[in-house]
Amino acid sequence: MVMLATPLRKLEHVISSEQFDRACLDDLFARADALAGHRDTRLAGRIMATLFYEPSTRTRLSFESAMLRLGGAVVGTEAAREFSSAIKGETLEDTIRMVSAYADVIVLRHDQAGAAARAAAVASVPVVNAGDGPGEHPTQALLDLYTIGSERGTAEGVHIAFCGDLRFGRTVHSLAQLLTLYPGVRMSFVAPEVVQIGADVLARMTAAGIPFRLTDRLDEVIDSVDVVYQTRVQKERFTDLADFEVARRAIRIDAEVMRALPEQAIVMHPLPRVDEIATEVDADPRAAYFRQARNGVVIRMALLDLLLG
Ligand code: NCD
Repeated sequence: MVMLATPLRKLEHVISSEQFDRACLDDLFARADALAGHRDTRLAGRIMATLFYEPSTRTRLSFESAMLRLGGAVVGTEAAREFSSAIKGETLEDTIRMVSAYADVIVLRHDQAGAAARAAAVASVPVVNAGDGPGEHPTQALLDLYTIGSERGTAEGVHIAFCGDLRFGRTVHSLAQLLTLYPGVRMSFVAPEVVQIGADVLARMTAAGIPFRLTDRLDEVIDSVDVVYQTRVQKERFTDLADFEVARRAIRIDAEVMRALPEQAIVMHPLPRVDEIATEVDADPRAAYFRQARNGVVIRMALLDLLLG
């Protein structure tokens, strides 16, 4: 885990939200602004490999679209557990050593926390963590933070309510960390006990001086929230399905919740959604999740430009 304290400008890998400082985020977001709707050939001749051991729609396709929009090329495998040599018993480390020879950057999604750091330790090209099990998902957090900025002007001073599966939801772990860089941020962690936020995240919030509260009721905090960040209950990570059922039924955003939500607040979700946000919410202008997902392309363009440009 040598790279975790590395500031992004000197960075070879994107493994954790902890690598980013405020200057780096400002630089990245300015690049993203400049790249909106843009296509050029600045990464012509460069190759990005996408190696996905877990399902993905948005993350993989937006990375691929970002690379193609900058003139680069893409190779890769989805369902890498079945369709790569992993099924023959090859270790992640050996696979990464080989893919390093075929591509200039590797975008990796894996089912185990820490997999991206393991990959980075043996890769000879930059590794980007596109989700490592219940660990982190730093590029999603970047587009989430960019979305808060574009929807509300700034992330400074926001009260964000993280809802749903805060235990296994890696996007929450990464976004909470990035938000510690913004003065005045307050957090509510709204989830039943079985999927409440981990002590490790809370320790980092405490160390950063972030005021937070834990509850299992959104109605206790909704009056003062600026951002509701709803998440899918991560069914694939439960060993006890009874816990999954408790979590699944806990918090749902519907028209009634939207009536209680302040006029200027927004609802975000990393997607995919199952039923934790009713489709009746989609038409509400405060439903920001599809705009949020679209921001994935410019953020990943900016990141690839920074890593390879
Ligand atoms: C999330 C993920 O994979 O962690 N999706 C995404 O990348 N946009 C959230 C989820 O799967 O629920």
